[in-house]
Amino acid sequence: MNDLIEKNLGLMLVLILFAVGFGGFVEIVPLMTQKVVTEPIKGLKPLEPLELEGRDIYIKEGCHVCHSQMIRPLRAEVERYGHYTVAGELVYNHPFLWGSKRTGPDLARVGGLYSDDWQRAHLYDPRSVVPESNMPAFPWLFENKLDLETLPKKLRALRMVGVPYTDEQIENAAKGLEDKTEADALIAYLQQLGLLLQERR
Ligand code: HEC
Repeated sequence: MNDLIEKNLGLMLVLILFAVGFGGFVEIVPLMTQKVVTEPIKGLKPLEPLELEGRDIYIKEGCHVCHSQMIRPLRAEVERYGHYTVAGELVYNHPFLWGSKRTGPDLARVGGLYSDDWQRAHLYDPRSVVPESNMPAFPWLFENKLDLETLPKKLRALRMVGVPYTDEQIENAAKGLEDKTEADALIAYLQQLGLLLQERR
């Protein structure tokens, strides 16, 4: 039998695909139906429109390239960053921003850790508040205004993949944000990160 499979590439390929497919099926499919990974944790709300804009700026500027948003359930991580990340706090995240590289600290629970003023100073010139920092400065965020035209469309698109925005929220998404800069949005986003499960420092 072994002989037959080893000498027949086509058959081997089919059997490999079957083995990998079966393994994936039994590991991945049950996860999709488990409550603990599909249900939002208590108090979880979709991001406010300003915070959502901030999240897109976070992606645009590549913050996730240096910062993870995923605290592993290991003592060293939990003591430094706070409660480990759970699936239920991320169900409205599309796409996830877990990241895999930590040039800077994890940001999953950075909300409220610093004042808005600190965040502003840090983004404008990281060395002004952390002299040894090698994080780049992002001064243009303080000049760029938000693109409010696409904002309601973003909320609508997220609703299609399961984020419970109401019609009213979508309609009023851009209201009152005319004077906001990209920095305002990004800081609003940072300041709510991980608040629901915060127990750090
Ligand atoms: C080239 C890598 C790099 C990039 C890109 C980067 N950072 Fe950082 N970040 C760091 C490093 C290193 C630190 C630690 C030193 C410091 O506090 O400045 C840091 C610290 C921080 C902190 C303080 C975290 C804490 O727990 O003290 C915040 C908040 C932060 N960064 C936000 C951002 C945001 C928002 C962006 C995108 C606009 C960004 N960073 C982009 C490297 C980076």
